[in-house]
Amino acid sequence: MFIAASRTDWFTQARFGLFIHLGPYSVLGGEEWVRSIDRLSIEQYQPAVDGFQPHELDAQAWARSAAAAGMKYAVLTAKHHDGFCLFDSALTTYSVMHNGFGRDLVREYVEAFRAEGIKVGLYYSLLDWHHPDYPVVGDEHHPHRDDPAWADHCPDFDRYLDYMHGQVEELVTKYGEIDILWFDFSYGSMLADKWRARELIEMVRWHQPNVIINNRLETSGGGFGSIVSDSPSPWAGDWVSPEQLVPEGGVRNERGEPVPWESCFTHNNHWGYFRDDDAYKSPRLLIRKLVEIVSNGGNMLLNVGPRPEGAFPEESIQVLAKVGDWLDKNGESVYGAGIADLPKPAWGYYTQSGSTVYAHVLEQPVGPLALTGIDASQVRSVRLLENGQPLNRADLWLTDPFPGTYFVSFGDNPAFTYPLPDEDDTVLAIELDME
Ligand code: GLC
Repeated sequence: MFIAASRTDWFTQARFGLFIHLGPYSVLGGEEWVRSIDRLSIEQYQPAVDGFQPHELDAQAWARSAAAAGMKYAVLTAKHHDGFCLFDSALTTYSVMHNGFGRDLVREYVEAFRAEGIKVGLYYSLLDWHHPDYPVVGDEHHPHRDDPAWADHCPDFDRYLDYMHGQVEELVTKYGEIDILWFDFSYGSMLADKWRARELIEMVRWHQPNVIINNRLETSGGGFGSIVSDSPSPWAGDWVSPEQLVPEGGVRNERGEPVPWESCFTHNNHWGYFRDDDAYKSPRLLIRKLVEIVSNGGNMLLNVGPRPEGAFPEESIQVLAKVGDWLDKNGESVYGAGIADLPKPAWGYYTQSGSTVYAHVLEQPVGPLALTGIDASQVRSVRLLENGQPLNRADLWLTDPFPGTYFVSFGDNPAFTYPLPDEDDTVLAIELDME
């Protein structure tokens, strides 16, 4: 089995979390990479830092939205690549405490989310485009990488690492129990030992033995890292963190065994608040992706980019509430559920928890629904999960040629076609006889 199998137990049960990307970049209506993309200097970015005054930020309202969505954990960007901190750090003045705002947003967030019973995670960028000792020359991302004025820049990288480790130590010592540390990210030669990852993890675990840590101390969203190999490194982390896609079939290690994984993606197409992007994913898409992910043993970490004033975009609030309505009725098929011991059905997905298989029916059948892979001899009962209504076996001469498949009908006549009770995802709970 894996390292950390027990540490991640709650995580693999939780299945659905909220990512929050917030920082000065939201003021530019841009994105968190804006300094790198537009080659902005610290001075050119300063108006965004000064303008970042999220007075409408109400962490309790955030937490209520997350709870209403059925999210069980959250991850907030304590520091992103721009180096600006949402927390009160003794190691820098480049933070919400010193740009005229004066509120420790990490503290407000952890307190509000904990109060809602939601586990708290912190994102921390390994990259830092503000710190003078972060490498510039030859770096593929730094805003000044092509700037001749920086050609002689000679950073003392160890000094940066001391700062970075120091800030992480602040995060794991000043805010009570932190459930998740979400590092971002490794690239090129900037990985593992380069971050003094062993020392970093030892320090973190010394303070917080139960915290779970993602795999990005040695990889990025575009890699799995050594957690999937036969000999994971000491900094392999506790789960694989693909981003902006849902890996077909989930993530397995080299022996073909499932490993914990979490697909993170944006609600529209940007992490930070992006004014002109209204390509918000619909409740239906999110419900179906969540179910696909769970059917492959993964978690879904859905990002919301708050507006620069601090509130979630109205579109996100509404969509989250609708996903939550579905989870209110069907959560049992998601939380604590995972890969079913059955081939994927053509009409949707199976998830499973103990002796209960959940059929997620996305496509309306013609006539009775074929519960493929399930034999009548195994079935104790089938019910509609949202209201407990039993579904009758569709046992008729038409189904005779399909032994080994259990058929159910959504209405009284087993040969008739009935609309699905829930067009987003109709869930059937099938109790199996496991003896
Ligand atoms: C990428 C980006 C970053 C974002 C992250 C989330 O690695 O650098 O902006 O925070 O993905 O996974």
